[in-house]
Amino acid sequence: MIDLTGKNALVTGIANNRSIAWGIAQQLHKAGANLGITYMKDEKGKHERKVAELVEPLNPSLYLPCNVQNESEIESTFEAIAEKWGKLDILVHCLAFAGKDELSGDFTNTSRQGFSNALDISAYSLVRLCAAAKPLMAEGGSIITLSYLGGVRVIPNYNVMGIAKAALEMNVRYLAAELGPLNIRVNAISSGPIRTLASSAVGGILDMIHHVEEVAPLRRTVTQQEVGNAATFLCSSMASGITGQILYVDAGYEIMGM
Ligand SMILES: NC(=O)c1ccc[n+]([C@@H]2O[C@H](COP(=O)([O-])OP(=O)(O)OC[C@H]3O[C@@H](n4cnc5c(N)ncnc54)[C@H](O)[C@@H]3O)[C@@H](O)[C@H]2O)c1
Repeated sequence: MIDLTGKNALVTGIANNRSIAWGIAQQLHKAGANLGITYMKDEKGKHERKVAELVEPLNPSLYLPCNVQNESEIESTFEAIAEKWGKLDILVHCLAFAGKDELSGDFTNTSRQGFSNALDISAYSLVRLCAAAKPLMAEGGSIITLSYLGGVRVIPNYNVMGIAKAALEMNVRYLAAELGPLNIRVNAISSGPIRTLASSAVGGILDMIHHVEEVAPLRRTVTQQEVGNAATFLCSSMASGITGQILYVDAGYEIMGM
């Protein structure tokens, strides 16, 4: 069993009980980690209440708004961690965004604004959160992000998000190289397709899932819990020699040529 007792873990990207981040938070909690959860604020505070209710059984000791495009929310999040925990051991970056218009049809229709927004939220944010986490990881740490095969191969309709995932995966390597001497490891999990709020914006997502179920060696796609287990492993001392890697948790789909 993996034991993360005494480890402080910040988990971003929980929107609901289908979120991959929710699968990860549950497994980190099971392993004994002390959790901090961030959420996206909306005008009516609905999202804040919904996510708070969902995560309550995991007993998070920090619960904070953190829109990664909002500098003051990023600063307050990490100030709260410094004040309450003193150190951070695990950072889970599990968020992405692209407008629905950009996630179907011709890639050449990608707008300048849509491109820069997708890259800013989905890729740059990892760099920004790592910069904020670095001083709090003086004892070393583990950082995980979530990628998808569309960052290395062309997947219909994934379009600008594929470019964002390619940037994200390269971020992982540059960050791993810089932070390795501080014993901070940075890895990505490339998950197979799962039905979530974000994935439902990708045109034809159900066809993608059915295709994976027919072709993947395990003849199925994966669950949030399986991704959570892999993340827990990568965050633990069992993975102490692993950094800068993209780990496929996709029922083996990535190895198939046809
Ligand atoms: N679902 C899949 O099939 C799949 C496959 C591979 C990788 N992923 C990746 O997993 C990650 C999580 O996505 P998910 O599928 O669980 O969907 P999700 O909709 O449950 O999670 C996406 C999260 O991103 C957050 N987010 C969006 N913009 C943000 C911002 N500006 N600041 C802070 N948070 C913001 C949302 O609030 C939400 O919690 C994403 O990086 C996604 O690309 C998903």
